[in-house]
Amino acid sequence: MLETAEKMIEAAGQRLERVVYTEGEIRARVGAMGEQIARHYEDAGDLLVLGLLKGSFVFLADLVREIPLPLHVDFLVASSYGSEKVSSGDVQLLYQSASTLKGRNVLVVEDIIDSGTTVARLMPLLREREPKSLEICALLHKRIVPLEWEPRWVGFDAPRDFLIGYGLDYSEHFRHLPFIASLRD
Ligand code: IMP
Ligand code: MG
Repeated sequence: MLETAEKMIEAAGQRLERVVYTEGEIRARVGAMGEQIARHYEDAGDLLVLGLLKGSFVFLADLVREIPLPLHVDFLVASSYGSEKVSSGDVQLLYQSASTLKGRNVLVVEDIIDSGTTVARLMPLLREREPKSLEICALLHKRIVPLEWEPRWVGFDAPRDFLIGYGLDYSEHFRHLPFIASLRD
């Protein structure tokens, strides 16, 4: 798989630096997160898992299968990066879920929090819709400074490198890699 991925990455004009999290490491961590989240919401009632597209689609699919509670799934589409490696800071909500948030436990699922701009822009909009509770779960966190909206659950404290795979893209490439890797500059 790694060799195939390396060829794909090269074909897209990029080079693989290293595998940062293997498939097995991700599976173990997502399993543990699912367990913690299930324990937290066990007696809380209605749970809506709200994935931020596109990056969270792989993580969310694996995560919800590790949460043995009644729950609903919906998505939001926010866009900030365009085709660049650096956030433009201009976060746009391209799609708002039609699900009612009022009175429900809402868990926002994000692939990676970098500057925190995306969640900082998004969370007040969700808060306005009066959920009973509102939390963030992020697979990866490039933590440098404390954020206004800290995720309650984080998979890995990620290195500052630009990461791809397991939902994460570079110009829409590489989302389907089963592991997370960094690209050479
Ligand atoms: P923030 O707004 O700076 O926190 O960036 C969050 C969004 O940027 C994430 O939802 C990702 O889509 C994208 N992003 C941040 N870092 C990376 C990375 O290393 N690889 C791929 N996408 C990233
Ligand atoms: Mg993205």
